[in-house]
Amino acid sequence: MKFEEIRSVGVAGAGAMGAGIAQVAAQSGYDVKVVDVSDAAWARAHKTISKSLERLAAKEKITGEQVKEALGRLSFSTDIGTLKGVPFLFEAVFENIDVKKELYGKLDAVCGDDVVYASNTSSLSITEMASLVKRPAKFVGMHFFNPVPMMRLVEVIPALQTEKGTADLALAMAQKLGKTAITCKDTPGFVVNRLLVPYLLDAARILEEGVASAEDIDTAMKLGCGMPMGPFELMDFTGVEIAYYVGEIFHGYTKEARFSPPGLMRNMVKAGYLGRKAGKGFYDHTGK
Ligand SMILES: NC(=O)c1ccc[n+]([C@@H]2O[C@H](COP(=O)([O-])OP(=O)(O)OC[C@H]3O[C@@H](n4cnc5c(N)ncnc54)[C@H](O)[C@@H]3O)[C@@H](O)[C@H]2O)c1
Repeated sequence: MKFEEIRSVGVAGAGAMGAGIAQVAAQSGYDVKVVDVSDAAWARAHKTISKSLERLAAKEKITGEQVKEALGRLSFSTDIGTLKGVPFLFEAVFENIDVKKELYGKLDAVCGDDVVYASNTSSLSITEMASLVKRPAKFVGMHFFNPVPMMRLVEVIPALQTEKGTADLALAMAQKLGKTAITCKDTPGFVVNRLLVPYLLDAARILEEGVASAEDIDTAMKLGCGMPMGPFELMDFTGVEIAYYVGEIFHGYTKEARFSPPGLMRNMVKAGYLGRKAGKGFYDHTGK
């Protein structure tokens, strides 16, 4: 299918990322069919999307009419059969290869031969995932960043099996959604996480060594490097377990010591000190 002929897209998974992708796709004029196993996930996603659009309207970045139109383009079902006929499908379900494998099996039974699958995985191999589907040439990685409506980058990652036309469609789609795309090889962490994850783990390592306090390390990176958040503020915001598990996965692939999470983070994850959402991470968030 030619890119200009695409009128609708599917989104599998209505979590943090699926909701964001659904929002930007609806704002870009696509009819968006969202599927999740959980009605509650969609209730949360719909609320998040509505609030986000209303905030944009309050800042006069979009009109009230555009809010209504975007919301009107979104539909949801727990029935995967509703994705029949979509030409382009964003996958944003749990970061677990078995969950993804089962989902792609079901999608292959429902979707047409031309459908492009764009996985938003952060840490799984695109090539391995492409090998799970009927048409690996139509599989590509499209790695968005959280929160999707705000973050302007998409990493486009062709699998070894991806045909050029598929990668080109992904690049055109990223642009249509208002993002800037970069292309990178299917390697652990792609570009951003390959650089970011060792940095975050190193920050925890020097905290563990007692080099400086979490506050001072955060201040150093903000004032010394112009970063908007320090490493501990960032991990408390995104979830301490994310950097921990992603590090473990990359370490499994590469065996490089820089990806191995320090004991401090292992213990924090075991203790449930996962950051803001848990009330405690590197900082105390109770009462905030
Ligand atoms: N959160 C981030 O910062 C971030 C950033 C970039 C990429 N990613 C990637 O995006 C993907 C989703 O991450 P998230 O943070 O949105 O996860 P999440 O846990 O917020 O949401 C996942 C959603 O998938 C749904 N789901 C699970 N199995 C399903 C199935 N078989 N069919 C349909 N829906 C199903 C769940 O009910 C849940 O609503 C992962 O691959 C993750 O690696 C996450």
